[in-house]
Amino acid sequence: MITFSLINEKGGIGKTTLATHIAAGLAIRGYRVILIDADPQGHATFSLGLDKRPGLYDLLVRDAAFKDVLLVPSIQSFTIEPPKGRLFVLPSNTETRAIPNQIEDVTLLVNRLQELSSVIDAVIFDTPPTPSLLHSSIYLATDAIIYPTTCEMLSFDGLQESINRSKKFQIMRQEMSRRATEVFGIVPTMYQNSTALHKQNLEALQAQFAGKVWSPLTLRTLWREASQHRCMVFALAPTSKAADEAWELVNRVEQGMQAWQRKS
Ligand SMILES: Nc1ncnc2c1ncn2[C@@H]1O[C@H](COP(=O)(O)OP(=O)(O)O)[C@@H](O)[C@H]1O
Ligand SMILES: [Mg+2]
Repeated sequence: MITFSLINEKGGIGKTTLATHIAAGLAIRGYRVILIDADPQGHATFSLGLDKRPGLYDLLVRDAAFKDVLLVPSIQSFTIEPPKGRLFVLPSNTETRAIPNQIEDVTLLVNRLQELSSVIDAVIFDTPPTPSLLHSSIYLATDAIIYPTTCEMLSFDGLQESINRSKKFQIMRQEMSRRATEVFGIVPTMYQNSTALHKQNLEALQAQFAGKVWSPLTLRTLWREASQHRCMVFALAPTSKAADEAWELVNRVEQGMQAWQRKS
């Protein structure tokens, strides 16, 4: 089982979009996936057509069993063909905000996730932009990070802040006999090829993070339409350019997972 997280301390740059589409794409491909919505806004939950609920809160604070808190989104919300794997969602609502005040043990989340190790292939966290003590628990549990970023300065700043924060947790991961968290990739989102600023900033990003910057996801209205319909682009428009780019992203994630497994 691998745990990875979509992180950037800037809001509105595509974390939830990527988390939900990667989770759905991997489930369609045959993996057993849990998407954990760790944002009190509950947008990952909502985007897959589910009701916001205190899933993560119940798991960590009320010691609920996974089987009692996981939800199964309708297949129509993410694919037009039967998925080869399974997709579960640990939902969120505003109660998620209270988790850091209620738990003292920063390793609780890592320990609860251990229960899934033989039945789940991938755990994917969608995270809120504002760092809190819950982030510490997530960083500790995270084997690999995917950083979405727009090709704009404030998003780059959020990216750098997140990278710095991730480094702080590596000693603790070592103490827990866990490998250092890897950077899977940096994904430029909402990219506009015709915008000189985006092109320049993409080049700067590629120069700074050589080999880590994945293909950009182009700014397209279809992504917003999918949000509006509370479904994935795979379900709304499976032959669209947006879906093609989403599959390319899923391919990169799959390659990253396979490389990660070879090292373990
Ligand atoms: N490539 C894209 N083109 C156009 N809109 C996008 C694209 N990716 C995401 N969006 C939209 O941008 C908004 C913010 O994305 P979201 O994933 O919720 O960001 P975050 O989770 O970082 O706050 C959503 O309405 C989403 O549909
Ligand atoms: Mg979000």
